[in-house]
Amino acid sequence: MSTPRGRQSRLTTSRAHSARVYDYILGGKDHYPADAEAGDAMCRHWPALPVHMTENRRFMHRAGRFLAEECGIRQFLDIGTGLPTSPNLHEVVQAAAPESHVVYVDNDPIVLAHARALLQSSPEGATAYVDADMHNPDAILGSQEFQDLIDLEQPVGLMVIGIMHFILPPDDHRLIGQLLDPLPPGSCLAMTIGTADFAPEEVNRVAQEYRRQGMPFVLRDLASATSFFDGLELQEPGVTQAHAWRPGPEQDGVDGRDVAMYGAVARKP
Ligand SMILES: C[S@@+](CC[C@H](N)C(=O)[O-])C[C@H]1O[C@@H](n2cnc3c(N)ncnc32)[C@H](O)[C@@H]1O
Repeated sequence: MSTPRGRQSRLTTSRAHSARVYDYILGGKDHYPADAEAGDAMCRHWPALPVHMTENRRFMHRAGRFLAEECGIRQFLDIGTGLPTSPNLHEVVQAAAPESHVVYVDNDPIVLAHARALLQSSPEGATAYVDADMHNPDAILGSQEFQDLIDLEQPVGLMVIGIMHFILPPDDHRLIGQLLDPLPPGSCLAMTIGTADFAPEEVNRVAQEYRRQGMPFVLRDLASATSFFDGLELQEPGVTQAHAWRPGPEQDGVDGRDVAMYGAVARKP
C-alpha cells in the first residue's frame, strides 16, 4: 500500500470531507461531527440526497458487474474509492471473476486508514490501495501497486464514480485522458457525473453547501457529461441518469428528480 510520508498527518477532523460526508449520508460509521453537520445541512437543502447517493453507489455495482460479466474485464482502476462500503468494487467483480485485480485510489487520509478492508481479496485475485490524488495521474500510473497488479497488455476498467463533481475544469478532461492513455484498446471507462438538470434549485443549493464547507464542486449538463466519452464507444444505453442505466429491480420506483448523476460506460476502440 502506498503511504507517502506524512500523509497520515493530513487527517483533519474539524472540517467536513467529501468521503466522510458520503459515508454519513449513506448510513456508515466512519465520520466525525463536522461531517455529520455538513451532511445534515446538505440534506436540509435536498432531502433526496440519500437516494441520489445510494443510486450512485448502485450504478458502480451494476457497471462493475457489466464490465466483469459482459465485457470480460479482469483488472480495474478505481479512482476516488471512498470509505469501504460492502459490496466494494472487488467484491462485485470477484463474485463474477475471482481472479480479478483491483487497484483502489483515494486522496483522503481516512480512506487510507480504513483501506485494509479493501485489501481482503479473493485468493485467486488481488487488490491494492494507492494513496494519491486524481490531479496527479503520474503518481497513480507510476505507483508500484498499479505496476504490480495491472497488465497493460490486457484491457482495464477505469472507474471514475462519484468524484468528477470535485474535479474542476479546465483539468477534468486532461486528467481523464491521461488515465485512459496507457490503457489498451478494449479498456472501458465507467463514470458518473453530477448534474443539476433534474432538480436545479435543490442540487445547486447542495453544491453551494459543499463549496461553503471548503470543497470545490462543479455540476455539468448532459452535453458536458457526454463530452467525457468523446472518442470512445458508448455502451448501451449511452449516457443516462445513474438509476436508469441498465436498471434492476432495486431501481423500481426511483424518482428521476431524486438522482443528480449521469452515468455511462464506454469502450476504448
Ligand atoms: C462521493 S465519494 C465516491 C466513492 C465511490 N467511488 C462511490 O461512488 O461510491 C468521492 C471520493 O472521491 C475522493 N476524492 C475526491 N477528490 C479526490 C481527488 N482529487 N483525488 C482522489 N480522490 C478524491 C474522496 O475522498 C471520496 O472518497
